[in-house]
Amino acid sequence: MLKLLNLLKDGRFHSGEALGAALGVSRSAVWKQLQHLESELNLTIHKVRGRGYQLAAPLVLLDEQAIAGFAEGECWPVFIHETIDSTNAEGLRLAAVGQSAPFVVLAERQSAGRGRRGRHWVSPFAENLYYSLVLRIDGGMRQLEGLSLVVGLAVMRTLQAFGLEKVGLKWPNDVLVDGKKITGILLELVGDPADVCHVVLGIGINVNMQVNDLVDQQWTSMRRELGQLVDRNRLVAVLGEQLQREMARHRRYGFAAFQEEWEASHLWQGRKVSLIAGTTTIDGIALGVDGQGAIRLDVDGVEKSFSGGELSLRLRDDS
Ligand code: BTN
Repeated sequence: MLKLLNLLKDGRFHSGEALGAALGVSRSAVWKQLQHLESELNLTIHKVRGRGYQLAAPLVLLDEQAIAGFAEGECWPVFIHETIDSTNAEGLRLAAVGQSAPFVVLAERQSAGRGRRGRHWVSPFAENLYYSLVLRIDGGMRQLEGLSLVVGLAVMRTLQAFGLEKVGLKWPNDVLVDGKKITGILLELVGDPADVCHVVLGIGINVNMQVNDLVDQQWTSMRRELGQLVDRNRLVAVLGEQLQREMARHRRYGFAAFQEEWEASHLWQGRKVSLIAGTTTIDGIALGVDGQGAIRLDVDGVEKSFSGGELSLRLRDDS
């Protein structure tokens, strides 16, 4: 199916005969694959008698060489899938069978994209970025402290490099534009964090998505903000560079070196918030983060810090 898509991706007309010859299959087999592309990947294909088949809009697919071409330095090895359950799940599987880290898993689409707190991450074909970077962490919990906040910062810098304005962060690691979510980040860990473990930094960026009724929160995309298509291969290259830079700083100095910078981009700094932890809610005022990346709240006049993957912040109605 990917072969056929590669032939069609230029957005021009291709006759059934030419497609069949290029794929080594009959015209009726081409027809079946076209139907499959439409139903499975939700693509629109124009069929015009005498001219052939044409994708409604040209597609730029993820491509390792194109990514390397955009990169200024060295890239991490990358595994690209047309469809995968979840790039995070695949990253964990590869780490478990001994794939040497660091490496990146990308997919054109996820059938079971994972979000924070057990939520589903909507992952339509070839529109967005589904990116998982797998790292090996050798005996040092400190290397994990605040790491997910650093990833948020690196994503924010990447979006700014593409010309997005009004990008900010929401603790722990949502990236928002004008209050609308543009990126979600999910860290997953396997192994013993006090000894050797692998961490998967899962990043979902809304890139060229323009409409989607399945997303159950306020969202935006790079294309919506910039008014133009974004090359996802270039995005992978720039994101890789930003992650390399910020993670090197994090390894060397720890999260404390990011504290001020992170707070300067925190959209809810000084606002009245509720911290949700399962069925418990704690009301307070967001003071910032501590040197380990925990959220600092003023709770009835007392400063308290909270951390943990299952926590999330809401703005209070009266804030
Ligand atoms: C969130 O809920 O905000 C986090 C969403 C994280 C989504 C990304 S997409 C790439 C990677 N693979 C997954 O299954 N999830 C993360």
